[in-house]
Amino acid sequence: MKKIIKNGVIVTASDTYEAEILIEDGVIKAIGHDLQANDAEVVDAKGCYVFPGGIDPHTHLDMPFGGTVTKDDFETGTIGAAFGGTTTVIDFCLTNKGVPLANAINAWHAKSKDKAVIDYGFHLMIAEITEDVLNQLPSVINEEGITSFKVFMAYKNVFQADDATLYRTLLAAKELGALVMVHAENGDVIDYLTTKALEEGNTSPIYHALTRPPEVEGEATGRASRLTGLADSQLYVVHVSCADAADRIAEARKKGWNVWGETCPQYLVLDQSYLEKPDFEGAKYVWSPPLREKWNQEKLWTALKNGELQTIGSDQCSFDFKGQKDLGKDDFTKIPNGGPIIEDRMTILFSEGVKKGRISLNQFVDLTSTRAAKLFGLFPQKGTIAVGTDADIVIYDPNAERTLSAETHHLAVDYSAFEGMEVTGEPVSVLSRGEYVIKDKQFVGNPGSGKFLKRSKFGEHSAQQNKELHTSSN
Ligand code: URP
Ligand code: ZN
Ligand code: ZN
Ligand code: ZN
Repeated sequence: MKKIIKNGVIVTASDTYEAEILIEDGVIKAIGHDLQANDAEVVDAKGCYVFPGGIDPHTHLDMPFGGTVTKDDFETGTIGAAFGGTTTVIDFCLTNKGVPLANAINAWHAKSKDKAVIDYGFHLMIAEITEDVLNQLPSVINEEGITSFKVFMAYKNVFQADDATLYRTLLAAKELGALVMVHAENGDVIDYLTTKALEEGNTSPIYHALTRPPEVEGEATGRASRLTGLADSQLYVVHVSCADAADRIAEARKKGWNVWGETCPQYLVLDQSYLEKPDFEGAKYVWSPPLREKWNQEKLWTALKNGELQTIGSDQCSFDFKGQKDLGKDDFTKIPNGGPIIEDRMTILFSEGVKKGRISLNQFVDLTSTRAAKLFGLFPQKGTIAVGTDADIVIYDPNAERTLSAETHHLAVDYSAFEGMEVTGEPVSVLSRGEYVIKDKQFVGNPGSGKFLKRSKFGEHSAQQNKELHTSSN
């Protein structure tokens, strides 16, 4: 069905202008004025912004962790994402040492295929580098279209890889055309600090934060950045939570190293004191890296504004308060790490960022969509509004006011990380490849309609985009 979006203000990472959009066969066919198509459905966007669909480059849907599995899967998670204006997610495919990478990838396809209501891709976790793994990587990139790797520097004895693995992954990524992502925390030091805390009888949720101080994140961020410089490779640091880590990224970029940083809404609006809530409620806010002292928030906003951090991921990883988080009732190290953020990712950036004058409207689009598309090999198919691109579009009412709550969210998980927060701005309708997923604030999509995205190699973009990657954010 053809559609014409009329009366809205189109916003991309670079422009804000009034025009109509003609959509046909899932792509944008024309942008202009007085567009004619007799049989097209008219979508009235009066009073609304028209954004490219959001890209969430950091989700954990249907992920096993700490003896349980995230509450939200590819169905409920992507429905929540769509309500929030996100039309693409890139999820982390976990791997195990000694098991063929294809098995892990097939397992992630099985989790997502008949469930996702929006398009999706995968990042591949690298647990170890052996000759066998190196031999499998070219087909991961060239055939599977998985062009980003993830190395964990923390979660000792679970996901943590050593520095040689990180370095060799950086070298392989440079050679093959992939972007390396790191969870940057010093897992060995955390292991010592958590063991010591438990020995001293300190078992409550706040010790999650106290045993993972900002220095262990800053140190690991600096180390990964230096190794990237040494390998002349490319690095994307996920979930930057504090000034210490943001400063390490800014330093690396000043040195000319190819390092990018992502932060998440939770670090911009919540702080360490949430972990001290009574009756074990602090467990709702246990994720890694932990929430920080409040003064870090303004540092992160400034880094976003200055281009020292480039993207917003959700790090969606939800566990019920009742029945999952309480696995750690007597031992904070057993609280499954993660929170429900996917639905509110763009809302918080719009309400707290754009509305409060901390970032511009165009920066909002860049941070929540365009930059991720460029870094992760989806641009220009995704991440912008231009003729020929996928019609992934959000019609956004910038003045809608509401209160975030588990009562009204669309995830399966039993709590909201932002309960009671008053926000301004809400998607009215959301299109995925030209079809409504959300129409007039109602879900009208279909599980299984989301397509797996094979992504381009890192750096395999036009000369112009390449130039932009290297200059636009300084
Ligand atoms: O606590 C978190 N962030 N859980 C998800 C896994 C990760 O480290 O990103
Ligand atoms: Zn992580
Ligand atoms: Zn994560
Ligand atoms: Zn480049």
